[in-house]
Amino acid sequence: MSVVPMRWAEDGLLLLDQRCLPLETTWLTLNDWQGVRDAIRDMAVRGAPAIGIAAAYGMALAARSKVERSEAATGLAASRPTAVNLFWAIDRIMALDTWDYGTVLREAQAIEAEDRACNERIGAHGAGLVPDRARILTICNTGSLATGGHGTALGIIRTAHAQGKVVQVYACETRPRQQGLRLTAWELLQDQIPFACIADGAAGSLMRAREVDLVVAGADRIAANGDTANKLGTYTLAVLARSHGIPFVIAAPESTLDPKTENGALIPIEERDPTELLEVGGVRVGPIGCPVFNPAFDLTPGKLIDAIVTEQGVHRAPYRFR
Ligand code: MRU
Repeated sequence: MSVVPMRWAEDGLLLLDQRCLPLETTWLTLNDWQGVRDAIRDMAVRGAPAIGIAAAYGMALAARSKVERSEAATGLAASRPTAVNLFWAIDRIMALDTWDYGTVLREAQAIEAEDRACNERIGAHGAGLVPDRARILTICNTGSLATGGHGTALGIIRTAHAQGKVVQVYACETRPRQQGLRLTAWELLQDQIPFACIADGAAGSLMRAREVDLVVAGADRIAANGDTANKLGTYTLAVLARSHGIPFVIAAPESTLDPKTENGALIPIEERDPTELLEVGGVRVGPIGCPVFNPAFDLTPGKLIDAIVTEQGVHRAPYRFR
């Protein structure tokens, strides 16, 4: 699949603006680290691994402009709080023993290429968990747009589909920003994988009707005990899956593991602007003065997760990441 969320070019970082997809294909050209920080914060680029890759390129732009490296690192790290890949990528650049532009750029390119390779391996390991004639439910966008390519949860679906095992995907719309409807649907259409989008609230009745064999989701941060922060609604799916006896699987690269964080209660959960909920497609639908609670992520306890698939293989509960 040829979709990529960003490309490095002579004049800077070209970023596919995911806020405009699927109706418009707009590429932003970012020339400084502040532009990358704003693109991450405003979700022109999103998805934990893609955020990390973008931040690494942001560091390369800072090195090119000879900006103080701690200034760029601190600024980029302040863009979004939950996805640990952001901090992992910045730390990796900070660990270089030089601030030479060429070296930093090569490291950013390596981070991108490694992520793609990780995803292929996640796909291969995860496809082993997919039964024949599987109907798989997923949430948010965890595909090529969210990663260096191929995807994590969507990468498993892609690989299993290529093996002839997938007969149907159910893509949750993923309110409020609709990454499932706008982005996952766009990727599935291009790959000709059979699917239907569902309103988030339809997941329970589909499971009850025995239409779902497996639920697979991505992750923004996985604590040492397997507690997982992912897109709002993931926890609901995990509870529903357990109550209907359906396997619930998380897919993520090892760069999403945060062993220093003992459990999920310690993971910072981002709260975003109320307009994300009050508006649909830029049109105000909530009443003026309506109070809103808008967390971008929720926490799924490790005990509800049947398997966590990384490039290293399939981890099973009880989880103890180090
Ligand atoms: O707010 P987003 O769109 O950045 O949230 C993305 C998710 O929650 C994904 O499931 C997660 O980052 C994994 S992407 C491979």
